[in-house]
Amino acid sequence: MPTVSVNGLQIAYASAGAGPPTVCLVHGTGGSSDVWMRQLEDLADLGRIVALDLPGHGGSGGTIAHRIEDAAAVVAGFLDALGITRVVIGGHSMGGAIAQQFALSCRERPDGLILIGTGARLRVLPRLLDLLANHYHEGVSLLMSLAIGAKAPAELRAALHRATAQNPAGVVLGDLQACDAFDVMSRISTVQAPTLVICGEEDQLTPPKYSRFLGQRIAGACVSIVPGAGHYVQVEKPRETTAAIREFLVRLGE
Ligand code: COA
Repeated sequence: MPTVSVNGLQIAYASAGAGPPTVCLVHGTGGSSDVWMRQLEDLADLGRIVALDLPGHGGSGGTIAHRIEDAAAVVAGFLDALGITRVVIGGHSMGGAIAQQFALSCRERPDGLILIGTGARLRVLPRLLDLLANHYHEGVSLLMSLAIGAKAPAELRAALHRATAQNPAGVVLGDLQACDAFDVMSRISTVQAPTLVICGEEDQLTPPKYSRFLGQRIAGACVSIVPGAGHYVQVEKPRETTAAIREFLVRLGE
């Protein structure tokens, strides 16, 4: 996996296709660029797709950003380091919070915004935070039981669970604490970028209500609710998710 230096930190990333447009995808809690495998494969004919590992995740160095604002600044630095000026920014869950923050603080930069399984406010169940702090594996089990849709195959469930559980101590908890402090509900209507919102119909962590709120507040936003999927909609239903993103990107280019 290639890496790029961002403020002295080695940031690993996956890349496919050639731009413009360039789409930058940001993973969620305890994740890595692996969660975008299918989107990297299936959208590369449309442009350049890059997916980074946030600091302290996957193959990247450093420690996690404890605030969504700091993570959004890392994403901006990552894009600068790659010489990417115009971008469609997409994110899942915590990555969706980072994408919203990026759109709010770098107003001129995003040509589009793709918000997947996320919300403008991401309060976290206190019991989940407590378990992750004191009984890590029970905490991960509760998190994954809420995160993966009931219809997801057992192998996928096991793979997502394993990938999350293997994070170094403090990463999953720290990510969720950053989510818990995130709240742009009163500001999200100032986003001007064309926006696509995607959510699994059975998402228990960021329910469709959160996506409908984004759709109501962001002018012209299009909301796609995917039946039979939970919070990991882009992994559980890659075909449907990628089709919605493809349609959005094609429309943006017209
Ligand atoms: N978009 C739209 N509405 C939202 C929202 C969002 N992003 N976040 C919260 N709300 C709504 C809630 O639905 C609730 O509406 P209601 O009063 O009509 O029921 C209201 O705002 C207040 O909700 P919240 O701020 O979340 O506080 P709470 O004390 O009601 O609930 C939790 C706290 C943690 C129980 C709740 O947020 C929850 O179940 N979260 C999902 C589980 C989780 O841990 N997710 C992790 C996200 S990364």
